Amino acid sequence: ASVAIPTGDLTGVRAVVTAGGTREPIDPVRFIGNRSSGKQGVAVALSAAVRGADVVLIAAHVDDGVLAEASAHPRLTVLRAGTAIELRDAVTDAAPDADVIVMAAAVADYRVAEVSDAKLAKEAAAGPGITLHLIENDDILAGLVRARRDGQTVVGFAAETPGDGETLLDRGRRKAARKGADLLAVNHVGWSRGFESDDNEVVLLDAGGEVVADARGSKREVADALWDAVRKTRAKTK
Ligand code: CTP
Ligand code: CA
Repeated sequence: ASVAIPTGDLTGVRAVVTAGGTREPIDPVRFIGNRSSGKQGVAVALSAAVRGADVVLIAAHVDDGVLAEASAHPRLTVLRAGTAIELRDAVTDAAPDADVIVMAAAVADYRVAEVSDAKLAKEAAAGPGITLHLIENDDILAGLVRARRDGQTVVGFAAETPGDGETLLDRGRRKAARKGADLLAVNHVGWSRGFESDDNEVVLLDAGGEVVADARGSKREVADALWDAVRKTRAKTK
């Protein structure tokens, strides 16, 4: 006998979601990374699958435990990416078939220009310090927005540490204008908030920088609010 898998308001929607944080190698044993746990991105992917979407989740260094529930969902496929370049290639491959793309991954802005095949040794250093030359990675979200086809919705995340008299919203609005995504989920981060935590608080801005929703709670609740906003955005442009 076959078992019916319940669906919901995202039935028929094809979603691609990135989660986690890329790592940029320095040498065979070291990397430049970030503190993203992937929990918010995984929650976004799982929420979509539970609501009926077919989801490709591209995970960058997300712990198996964080992925467990999502991996088990029949409408969700997990792919892995390690570096920003691998993530770009994976999402670029998946994008043409997607109705909605959510870039929740923390993508390294820079990579090491020349990755050493051998472990860097202090003995080989010329002085009391070393300099790593970094070069900018492609902005994946910007590329997706440029390639966006009719009917496709592109969502970005922005982690901000407000300061210098500028509010979270100001920074978020500038980023929304710069990115051109259909929705931008702006997240307040700091040394002790936003990352490994199970709760989150985001402001959702549309492409014009208008607040469309304010979501707080568990990462799953925030994910559900994000999909509600995606549905509203898509209803407007239809
Ligand atoms: N992003 C991306 N490719 C990059 C860097 C970021 O696709 N090379 C995406 C992230 O996945 C996120 C959004 O862009 O959805 C915003 O990331 P953020 O780091 O906040 O923005 P940046 O444009 O990198 O600006 P900055 O780090 O200078 O604040
Ligand atoms: Ca960045």
